[in-house]
Amino acid sequence: MTATATRALSVQEAIETRRSIRKYVQEPLNQDDLREILRLASLAPSAWNAQTWRFAVVQNPELQAKLQDAAYGQGQVTNAPAVIVVYSDMEDTLNTVEDTAHPGMGEQGRTGQRATFDNVFGSQPVAQRGAWGLSQANIAFGFLMLAARSLGYDTVPMLGFQPDKVKEILGLPEHVQFAGLLPLGKRAEDGFPHHRHSVERITKFY
Ligand SMILES: Cc1cc2nc3c(=O)[nH]c(=O)nc-3n(C[C@H](O)[C@H](O)[C@H](O)COP(=O)(O)O)c2cc1C
Repeated sequence: MTATATRALSVQEAIETRRSIRKYVQEPLNQDDLREILRLASLAPSAWNAQTWRFAVVQNPELQAKLQDAAYGQGQVTNAPAVIVVYSDMEDTLNTVEDTAHPGMGEQGRTGQRATFDNVFGSQPVAQRGAWGLSQANIAFGFLMLAARSLGYDTVPMLGFQPDKVKEILGLPEHVQFAGLLPLGKRAEDGFPHHRHSVERITKFY
């Protein structure tokens, strides 16, 4: 399947038109679009370029039914043609941290990257460094929603699920931490218009 988007939305249009969608058109996802959405999300920034995020893409009704069960029965998990599970794997990040040093920095960059991560995270408990990894993965989670919208797709971010059950269903290691589940597809409902604090309410200008 070739990509379907005729014109990607601008960032501004993607932000303005994104809203949580819980009912989707019942058709399989264009796999090229899916790849492109994941690629765009992978361009998110992270501290020291650590790229702690990992994606598990589920397009299997049986698995989606199990995930729905783990998500307290929330219907969008099976209604969407795909669910992207976004999580951070800080242990994998630490084990392979040389891969994230920019090639332009050469061997010195690779050894420096290793030394930095060993120094900062080596003595931290797994859960503590996992929380740091999650703070990076949350950035990619946001990028993912906007990348999807820019290519004409819709999503709903979800944290209403039992993490241990999702780990068991997907065979993920105990140490991973979830940014969220993200049902993905084309909207079959309008969703709610934005209801947000004003800029004045949430901002101090100095
Ligand atoms: C981290 C996070 C977790 C959320 N978890 C759920 C969820 O489990 N189920 C759900 O229906 N919506 C969930 N939402 C969607 C929010 O209710 C929604 O984003 C918010 O009401 C604003 O509406 P909008 O996304 O349409 O702008 C979640 C949103 C975020 C950002």
